[in-house]
Amino acid sequence: MSSSIIQAIESEVKDLFQAEPTGHDWFHIHRVRNMSLHLSDTEGGDREVIELAALLHDVSDPKLNGGIFDQGPIEADKIMTKHGIPVATRRRVCTVIEEVSYKGSDVETPCSSIESQIVQDADRLDAMGAIGIARAFAYGGNRDREIYNPTIPPKNHKSFEEYHHDKSHTINHFYEKLLLLKDRLNTPTAKQIGQERHEFLALFLSNFMADWGLNDR
Ligand code: ADP
Ligand code: NI
Repeated sequence: MSSSIIQAIESEVKDLFQAEPTGHDWFHIHRVRNMSLHLSDTEGGDREVIELAALLHDVSDPKLNGGIFDQGPIEADKIMTKHGIPVATRRRVCTVIEEVSYKGSDVETPCSSIESQIVQDADRLDAMGAIGIARAFAYGGNRDREIYNPTIPPKNHKSFEEYHHDKSHTINHFYEKLLLLKDRLNTPTAKQIGQERHEFLALFLSNFMADWGLNDR
């Protein structure tokens, strides 16, 4: 595939995600694409499928404005069709997009290909570490959620619907998703990168709780 097709798709995605306020802005897509290609350097996979899936993975995500459940791959397919991507590649990219999202602590999200494993890892790594913390509070603020409310404990979600519709505070999101990601990364390269990011999440939480405790009397 020519690099001009990738550039045209990139520019379309850039327009869609410009100034998005929930931590799913263009720079998230940009980081996931670069991280996916970095993981592919050591983990392999079809780089064309990986790059397209990374660029299109959050198009019409139900979390974002206007997104409908299961609509993501359909929207991605429309964009790829418009740019003349062959059907066999489109199918593989759409399968990656279907498999990428986190769906709750008690919901398994198996990957059927190395390309899925890589893009899922890159997306999850971006929810960890310093950037992951910033994104969580951006998302929570945008959805009118409290930073923390010690009277509301975290939950285990048994379905995507339950997870998606729960309106908890943002600190719970750390226990319901962010701290669990370390053990859900697929590739050895991502596991290595994720270790430090996980430790930073844990340090942030421990400082947060220590600061909260001092004020809590
Ligand atoms: P995934 O599809 O795996 O959820 P995304 O990149 O689409 O991955 O979005 C995940 C990001 O959305 C995370 O960085 C997370 O901070 C944010 N997010 C999603 N749900 C919540 C929530 N309930 N509270 C805070 N942040 C959230
Ligand atoms: Ni994403």
